Amino acid sequence: MLQHAEQCIARCTALALHTEQPGCTTRTFLSPPVHDVHRDLTSWMQAAGMTVSTDGAGNLRGRYESAQPQAPTLWIGSHLDTVPNAGAFDGILGVVLGVKLVELLKGRQLPFSIEVVAFSEEEGVRFGFPFIGSRYLIGDLDPATLQRQDAGGTTVAQAIRDFGITRDAAVNRHPALGYLEFHIEQGPVLEALNIPLGVVTAISGQTRMQLTFTGRAGHAGTTPMSLRHDALAGAAEWIVAVEQHALATEGLVATVGRVEAFPGASNIIPGSVNATLDIRHHQDSVRQQSAAHLVHFAESIAARRKLQLTSELRLQQASVAMDAQLTAALASAAQQAGHTVHPMPSGAGHDAMIMAKQMPAAMLFLRSPAGLSHHPDESVLLQDVAAALSVGSQFLKSYA
Ligand code: HGY
Ligand code: MN
Ligand code: MN
Repeated sequence: MLQHAEQCIARCTALALHTEQPGCTTRTFLSPPVHDVHRDLTSWMQAAGMTVSTDGAGNLRGRYESAQPQAPTLWIGSHLDTVPNAGAFDGILGVVLGVKLVELLKGRQLPFSIEVVAFSEEEGVRFGFPFIGSRYLIGDLDPATLQRQDAGGTTVAQAIRDFGITRDAAVNRHPALGYLEFHIEQGPVLEALNIPLGVVTAISGQTRMQLTFTGRAGHAGTTPMSLRHDALAGAAEWIVAVEQHALATEGLVATVGRVEAFPGASNIIPGSVNATLDIRHHQDSVRQQSAAHLVHFAESIAARRKLQLTSELRLQQASVAMDAQLTAALASAAQQAGHTVHPMPSGAGHDAMIMAKQMPAAMLFLRSPAGLSHHPDESVLLQDVAAALSVGSQFLKSYA
């Protein structure tokens, strides 16, 4: 299995070169390099005996038919888009492992079909709204989302047309057996336990917002400090408070990942600031209370500094438990393959939390060396990829 694992790592590393930014890996919703990823995945999928199609949201789908007509479908997949300056494994590893598992069947047919899906968009980078691909697949994409615009004013619908998609070429009306997602843990837990694999019990909910602080731009040299309404100083005071609140709230993580100050020159007092907020917790009530508290705190800072504050909710995603039965089947396949798996929650969001709305969903985590992800040094261990392939093959065998 090691040589198959080696090939999977090589494939992920090769796909990482398909990027919008030479020198680092950045691949957002249906950007030009996604055509190259589709081309490579299509050739691997076809060589494994799959028929390949692209659906109306740009998800690439490889279908491996069962011999039995109307057999149910087992979905295996993850996302092919990345965050800016990403590593080579977040998302795409789950697609590459799905293709490899079908390859390892060597033409043997199962009492169910397999559909390997590379979701077009999970990270929410281009349009500030995640899970466009998996929401589309389960018929849960709000039409208003198609009108969301990116920084350049292109809508989601236009981006789909620009990619060359005019219709949904993937028609699949077969009943779903379930959805399996192989994904790097993206955190330090498995490494700390010295265990290669985990199964996900639940995926933490997340709230994503954008807050805008508006003060008054002015001359940096002539405006006395007492007469300023500095939007960036106000936002900075709030950002420190966000961190303090999260440190004081057990199990909460809160991040201000992007700050934009306008007009953005060193000799102008910032007139307005956009700041994103990403809050996560496995208990929805704690997450929602924290979001409300932090917006209220921003309002009090703005009032004291005579700034205006607006806040825009971009995502309200509840925590989602993985399917106990499918997860147990995955854990027992791991045991039969000679591996223990550690049951654990996921702080990162995944397409599995969307697919779980329509079918049983389960996730297998692979250890993240140094717990590093959303970073170019993100990596996986060869033996862990081999272990994941053995578990996946065993799962297909026992599920059949
Ligand atoms: O941000 C996340 O949770 C994931 O990486 N999309
Ligand atoms: Mn990610
Ligand atoms: Mn991911």
